[in-house]
Amino acid sequence: MAFKTLDDMDVRGKRVLLRADLNVPFRDGKITDLTRIERHAPTISELARKGARVIVVSHFDRPGGKRVETMSLRPISAALRDVLGLDVFFADDCLGPIAEDAVARLEPGQVLLLENTRFYGGEEDNDPEMARQLAALADIYVNDAFSSAHRAHASTDGITRHLPSHAGRLMQRELEALSAALENPDRPVGAIVGGSKVSTKLALIGNMLEKVDVLVIGGAMANTFLAAQGVGVGRSLQEPDMHETAREILAQAQARGCEIVLPVDAVTATEFRPNPPTRVVPIAEVPADSMILDVGPATVEALKARLPALKTLVWNGPLGAFETPPFDAATVALAHAVAEATSAGHLRSVAGGGDTVAALKHAGVVDQISYVSTAGGAFLEWLEGKVLPGILALESLDGVIIPS
Ligand code: 3PG
Repeated sequence: MAFKTLDDMDVRGKRVLLRADLNVPFRDGKITDLTRIERHAPTISELARKGARVIVVSHFDRPGGKRVETMSLRPISAALRDVLGLDVFFADDCLGPIAEDAVARLEPGQVLLLENTRFYGGEEDNDPEMARQLAALADIYVNDAFSSAHRAHASTDGITRHLPSHAGRLMQRELEALSAALENPDRPVGAIVGGSKVSTKLALIGNMLEKVDVLVIGGAMANTFLAAQGVGVGRSLQEPDMHETAREILAQAQARGCEIVLPVDAVTATEFRPNPPTRVVPIAEVPADSMILDVGPATVEALKARLPALKTLVWNGPLGAFETPPFDAATVALAHAVAEATSAGHLRSVAGGGDTVAALKHAGVVDQISYVSTAGGAFLEWLEGKVLPGILALESLDGVIIPS
């Protein structure tokens, strides 16, 4: 795939409409994690420094095409100002006279944030008229929102039919990292896929089988695979109606030469709550009255022992019920081992998905992973091998090739 980047444009004095993803987590009216805002800062600062009039647009939450005051981007403009160290103007609308007037007053080097694009139904409908009106605000379009690239919306797709379209620095970094991990990776490639349900990750597992050499299955999903092979999993979470599918996946993996790695031991408890009495047992000896809530220490050691043989690792989903101690232990231990192998230069590690990022943060190793994606749904769809409309819309025959 080829894209134009910020290197391929002269922005001095130009109006640049930058699609960001400022859909940050909020609790009690406060932003609880600034990561998404911080990740856009390099693109916004670079454009401002180069003399662009920077018009930032984003969705926030799911207001369903109407104005919902609690979903206004206004509080985010203050956070954006603090992160950028620049004044950020805010316009109460992303279309019409309010937006047009604010854009008309913008000087080179200044930054303006427009109100939530999803206050208009045309955004999610990819309405050509909304795309045209947004495009009319600017001379150039930059998409820096990989995490929204799985949505074909007016501000991620339709708008590219009206303006020269470029990838921002965050988008560029995401695409470079993700392509280097699965499109054209150094082999052997391993993947760790966790989560609770096989049924929600079928497409992902199917794509992984074709792309990776070793697939580690963790989380409650592993219980379904174990039970499908006749292993007693007691009262563990699992999906009996997916047993046949799990057996088919195992057969497909074998046919493709992809090794599937399942837990060899487990941390079990009879109740799921913080710090209950636990028992570590070999996987064939899970008591009938217990639940598997984490993989055991022998599994962690076996996974750690595999790391030196891998050159690339993709991680999506924790190994256990990591939000409830002590069932975070295996995920934390493996996260440290992956971080060490990455820091030592042996491994390229790429991780993404909400739970995975939270687990890596909890382990304190986010900065030591080669790349941690800010995307949730888009990261999953990319792992499923889907073409993301927001990426497709940026493709350009004369763009820069990413990566190789
Ligand atoms: C996300 O948080 O994954 C993105 O901002 C996309 O949000 P959406 O699922 O509401 O489209």
